[in-house]
Amino acid sequence: MTHSDDPFFVSQPRQHFPDAPRDCPLCPRLSTFRNAHRKTQADWHNAPVPSFGDQNGRLLIVGLAPGLQGANRTGRPFTGDYAGDLLYSTLDRFGFSTGQFRARPDDGLRLDDCLITNAVRCVPPENKPTPEEIRLCRSYLEATIAAMPDLRAIVALGRISHDSVVRALGLPLKAAPFKHGASHDLASMAGQNLTLFDSYHCSRYNTNTGVLTAEMFHAVFQAVRNRLDTI
Ligand code: URA
Repeated sequence: MTHSDDPFFVSQPRQHFPDAPRDCPLCPRLSTFRNAHRKTQADWHNAPVPSFGDQNGRLLIVGLAPGLQGANRTGRPFTGDYAGDLLYSTLDRFGFSTGQFRARPDDGLRLDDCLITNAVRCVPPENKPTPEEIRLCRSYLEATIAAMPDLRAIVALGRISHDSVVRALGLPLKAAPFKHGASHDLASMAGQNLTLFDSYHCSRYNTNTGVLTAEMFHAVFQAVRNRLDTI
């Protein structure tokens, strides 16, 4: 089978990574949802979506959860999801990717110095994970953070991702309250040289309603780039 025949081929080779197993049993509601889609959409990924990019990168981007017909279909975060268009064009603009994003996992895109993951690895009904699902899936987020030896910056897309990152780092939420455009120096708090950057999620809803503009999103990544270029 060649790359182009394989719907699950991912352009950047997967490293030994703490990703959820295909039949992860932690969240019964999410297992039932993805099993139902395995019956009706047999050619979709329909499983926890693994992180994508460079495990040795300095930047981790944390989204919310795969979209049903996007990342849940293609098996790569933000790929096939509307939100991916702004995210991947921004990564290209600030030098965090090589190649062209074509919204399919075999487009050959590589992430440079950067990894993308989700706070919740499985698609939730109506894009809304429950607090318990977010809590249960946090073990994978914690393991992902722990598996990035050179991590210096995290971009959290939206408040849910932000809160899950703060908790994954063992911090109280009040230590780093979510605010679009804010950055939190976690060096003293989390005991590591790490800055958390907050952004509104680049969802279709947020961009269509003007809650988040491309300029606002670019400003967040400009701040990340400035930070990484000075350490
Ligand atoms: N697709 C993802 O993988 N994550 C999101 O947060 C949104 C869309």
